[in-house]
Amino acid sequence: MENPTIELLMKRRSIRSFSEKPIDAETKHLIQKATLRAPTAGNQVFYSVIDVIDQEIKDKLALLCDNQPMIAKAQMVWLFVADVQKWENLYHEAGSVTLGETKGIKQRDPGAGDLFLAMDDALIAAQNAVIAAESFGIGSCYIGDILENHEEIVSLFSLPRYATVATLVIFGYPKSRADLAHPSIRPPVDSVFMENTYTDYTLEKLHYTYGKQEERLREKMGLPFNNTGSISDYYYFRKHTSEFMKEMNRSSALLYERWMSKEK
Ligand SMILES: Cc1cc2nc3c(=O)[nH]c(=O)nc-3n(C[C@H](O)[C@H](O)[C@H](O)COP(=O)(O)O)c2cc1C
Repeated sequence: MENPTIELLMKRRSIRSFSEKPIDAETKHLIQKATLRAPTAGNQVFYSVIDVIDQEIKDKLALLCDNQPMIAKAQMVWLFVADVQKWENLYHEAGSVTLGETKGIKQRDPGAGDLFLAMDDALIAAQNAVIAAESFGIGSCYIGDILENHEEIVSLFSLPRYATVATLVIFGYPKSRADLAHPSIRPPVDSVFMENTYTDYTLEKLHYTYGKQEERLREKMGLPFNNTGSISDYYYFRKHTSEFMKEMNRSSALLYERWMSKEK
C-alpha cells in the first residue's frame, strides 16, 4: 500500500550537517503554517516560536547548548517556547482578573499543570515543523541541550517568567545524500506498546528491546571498553553520568523553580 505520510515518517532521520542552500521564504511560511496546525490544548496555542536569524545568537546557542557547532551552521533555528505568559497578559489586560475579583473568583498564578500543558503544546508543534520540513527535503535535529544554562538562555531571549524553553530545532537541507542512508534502529513495536497496564522491563525484555541497537553499535565499533561493553555501559557512561546531564538537571530545576516560585 502506498502511503506517502507513513513513508515520510519511516525515512526521517536527524540531520546534523547542512548544505548552504537557504530555505526560501515561501517554504518557510508553509512550514510555519503547518506548525500552527498542530493540535493545541483548548485551541489556546500555549507556545511561541523564536526564529533565530541573527548569526551572533546562533553562535552563542552553539556554545550554550553543550558546544554543538552545527547549530551555528543551520539555515533555520527555531526556539519553541512554552508560553502561558501571553494568556496571563490577556487575562490581566483585558480585565478578566479584575472582573473575576468582583465575582469572588481569586486570581491564580500558572502552576505545574499549566507548564506541562504548554510544554506538550510546544513539543507537538515542533514535531509538526519537523515533519513539514521533511516533506520539502529539509532535514532537522532537536537540540535537547537547550535545557542547559537556563540563566543565559532566559537573558539571551528576554524570556518572561511564564514563557520558558521547551525545545530548540535546527533545520537545513542535508549536506550529503550519505546522511540519508540509514535510519537509526528502534526497538520492536511489542517491546514498547503495552496493553491496558504497565509491564515492567525485566533484563530479558530490555535485551529484546535494545538488542538491535547494541548490535548496530558493536558493528560500528562504537561500544565502550574497546567494543566489549554493552549498550547499558554506553548510555550509562556517555549520557546518564555525563557532565552535560548534570548541567541539564541543574538548569531544568531552575526553570521549574522560576515558574513555580511564589515570588513575583
Ligand atoms: C528531546 C530530544 C533532544 C535531542 N537533543 C539532541 C542534541 O542535543 N544533539 C543532537 O545531535 N541530537 C539530538 N537529538 C536527536 C537524537 O539524537 C535523535 O533523534 C536520535 O539519535 C534518533 O535518531 P533519528 O532522529 O535519526 O532517528 C535529540 C532528540 C530529541 C527528541
